[in-house]
Amino acid sequence: MSLELSVVVLAAGMGTRMKSALPKVMHKVAGKPMVGHVIDTAAHLKAAKTMVVVGPDMPDLIKTVAPHPTFEQTDRLGTAHAVLAAKEGLKGLTGNVLVLYADSPLFTAKTLARLVAAREENDHAVAVLGFRPEDLTGYGRLVTDQNGNLTAIVEDKECNDAQRQINFCNSGVMCFKAEDMITTLEAIDNANAKGEYYLTDAVEVAQKNGQSCVAVEVDEAETLGVNSRTQLAVAEAILQNRLRETAMAEGATLVDPASVFLSADTKLGRDVIVEPNVVFGPGVTVGDNVVIKAFSHLESCVVGDGADIGPYARLRPGAEIGAGARVGNFVEIKKAVLEAGAKVNHLSYIGDARVGAKANIGAGTITCNYDGFRKQHTDIGAGAFIGSNSSLVAPVEIGDGAIVGAGSTITGKVEADALTLTRAERIEKKGWAAKFREKMRELTGKK
Ligand code: UD1
Ligand code: MG
Repeated sequence: MSLELSVVVLAAGMGTRMKSALPKVMHKVAGKPMVGHVIDTAAHLKAAKTMVVVGPDMPDLIKTVAPHPTFEQTDRLGTAHAVLAAKEGLKGLTGNVLVLYADSPLFTAKTLARLVAAREENDHAVAVLGFRPEDLTGYGRLVTDQNGNLTAIVEDKECNDAQRQINFCNSGVMCFKAEDMITTLEAIDNANAKGEYYLTDAVEVAQKNGQSCVAVEVDEAETLGVNSRTQLAVAEAILQNRLRETAMAEGATLVDPASVFLSADTKLGRDVIVEPNVVFGPGVTVGDNVVIKAFSHLESCVVGDGADIGPYARLRPGAEIGAGARVGNFVEIKKAVLEAGAKVNHLSYIGDARVGAKANIGAGTITCNYDGFRKQHTDIGAGAFIGSNSSLVAPVEIGDGAIVGAGSTITGKVEADALTLTRAERIEKKGWAAKFREKMRELTGKK
């Protein structure tokens, strides 16, 4: 594959079977809208231009695919009609134009590159990605001659009995010779069972013009198109397995791969150990030698080398965990930096904060970062020690090496190396409890 490549992504369908207010292709798999996966694959192929055909009234979709240009297909008159909605974008292109469906997120860049290369090889007008499905219903059949050339695609509804037996089918992915594409598509009519402009008729048009076409085979597993929530779950499962395989191949241990959920952009370093039941939302980067213990949930955060996370830790967006730092059970970190070696071991909320290197945050410490109107910052110096069950009412600044006594409520500024505590005066009344119980027994008759 050496000529220029452009991509047209068909995303005009609402997907009524999803029973959703969202356009179908905005539904997420592995933390990313389906259309995003397809656009990423195009980027992987170094597409010079990626165009998206959208339906009417899909502003969120247009925003999601930006800065890629979008073209609106107002009436759904068939796949050829959909591609021609992008006619202005197709003008003057050279090389290859790949047509992809936004509801089919599983095609790999490797497979698509193979298709593009096959089209280029003999300067075919069209190259089609075919597969052999278990259930042939609804698919266009690929008719090939003795030399393996593709002579026609016959839609399921148009097949005669012999054609219906053909088990080589159109996956929907087609690659066109860019220079001829508009002329070819404009020659397609809608004289067929569905009254639609079939993109697949491009093969017949090319034949008439004395041009050749070719079919390339792909494994059925890549071809899944999502039309329902059930198929969305199937696509999710396939993608998760791929992501787990990749993570392990790159040097992470997943103790129970099936219970670890990754996002398409999750980055795990070498010798990371992920225990069972861990969820990685979008935007997570984990360094080397990190242990993420069971039942932790991470999203949009960075975990430095050698850090120790969980079990039951929650890292929310903007958490930056430094090298060798420790985040223990039932700890929530949001938009906060834990510098190297800092420890927040138990039952804490740290939000909008900096925790200096090697500081120790005692159990139950809470940064009170929100006054109902504004978020305020907490700054904890290196080597500081925050006693258990302290409330740090932001804005607050604890100097390096300072100690905060357990159970304190701290506001303002604490000097470096100072001890500070707020604690009500202790009262002790000798024998009071025993007398109280005696009196209550008399009063209630209870033993
Ligand atoms: C299409 C192919 C068929 C192939 C099958 C694979 C045609 C004529 N047929 O059939 O050979 O085996 O896919 O799944 O191309 N779309 C639009 N605008 C339209 C029509 C469709 O954007 O006017 C989009 C749909 O949202 C969908 C894709 O194009 O993502 C395919 O359309 P669909 O109606 O599912 O085509 P099939 O009948 O399944
Ligand atoms: Mg379909």
